[in-house]
Amino acid sequence: MYYGRSNKVNSVEQTIAQLKPLAKEVCSRAHAPYSQFPVGAAVLDEAGGVFVGCNVENASFGLTLCAERNALAAAVAAGASRVETVLIYTPGEQAHPPCGACRQVIEELMEPDARIISCCDSKHVRSWTVAEVLPDPFCLISKPAV
Ligand code: THU
Repeated sequence: MYYGRSNKVNSVEQTIAQLKPLAKEVCSRAHAPYSQFPVGAAVLDEAGGVFVGCNVENASFGLTLCAERNALAAAVAAGASRVETVLIYTPGEQAHPPCGACRQVIEELMEPDARIISCCDSKHVRSWTVAEVLPDPFCLISKPAV
């Protein structure tokens, strides 16, 4: 889902203020009857475009779609510019990091120094760069040896 454009913001605090309400709203529409663990995600692109997604589970569990990947897919489908931030919201007192599969997809679509922020209903906030959450990503196109 596309949430329109707004003025670009930079600090982690400002980004949370902008994206958390949207991630929280989309989280309320998560389809998580099996895990009872709803997740909302909002991504911000370089041009100020905001896109959101929630987790969508399935009775065939392996088909479950994560919130971050759904938000990133919405951004790609809308022709978003470079994605600068992914914000994750989970209800409760603890901020959760992205799962391994989402890390690989995030790495594909964002720069190594782009930011991932996780927040919740308490003041607990976690934040990483893409390189921090997936330091040695699988990639098909060879990069210089390290
Ligand atoms: N989930 C996400 O949406 N994002 C993650 O990074 C981790 C897990 C969802 C998948 C599933 O619907 C529920 O959380 C419990 O694993």
